[in-house]
Amino acid sequence: MKFFADTSDIDDIKKLNEAGMLDGVTTNPSIIAKSGRDFIPLIEEICDIVEGPVSAEVASTDYETMSKEGAKLAAIADNVAVKVPLTPAGLRVCKELSDKGTMVNVTLCFSPGQALLAAKAGAAFISPFVGRLDDICQDGLSLIADILRIYENYESFDTEVLVASVRNPIHIIESAKMGAHVVTCPPSVIHQLYSHPLTDKGLAAFVEDWKKTGQSIL
Ligand code: G3P
Repeated sequence: MKFFADTSDIDDIKKLNEAGMLDGVTTNPSIIAKSGRDFIPLIEEICDIVEGPVSAEVASTDYETMSKEGAKLAAIADNVAVKVPLTPAGLRVCKELSDKGTMVNVTLCFSPGQALLAAKAGAAFISPFVGRLDDICQDGLSLIADILRIYENYESFDTEVLVASVRNPIHIIESAKMGAHVVTCPPSVIHQLYSHPLTDKGLAAFVEDWKKTGQSIL
């Protein structure tokens, strides 16, 4: 499973990258707005740090403008994945860009039917938003299961399921059990995977017992 960080925070990105836990980054207009930074230079900086795919989302909703925005974003760096919304115009841009060899991440996916259309449009990634479905008492993880089951039936589909809107480690674990290709989540959720009280307790006991030996390995 690939781990993408759903953030534009440079420090968080660098920390995960140094830990060897970062395979890519996703951003969206809300994340960019929160950063307070200029969009293009920020994506350029992230692309310089991260080798894997960096999702940069178009801002418009009409085909003509999204097409121009997508081409501009794709030109920033080879590892840019242009993010487009799951709309008729967005999927038209997806087909146009993917036919030219550009990675496209189709976002705001909430149904298996939408995911089927994205695969047919040649998306490199589909982003089903599990957390936002959970937020309205629908089972977000069952959408992941449905999409994976559909995609497995068609060898021609190269679209990777990029589980998005992740709220907790359970979303990551359950998606991994199902074989989802990628998860994108806030860095804090990735860090939560490290933690277990029995690990902390056991390590403290090892350290204490080692001290009693009076020895040093070095
Ligand atoms: O960036 C796409 C997605 O991960 C955002 O999810 O629900 O946390 O805004 P959310």
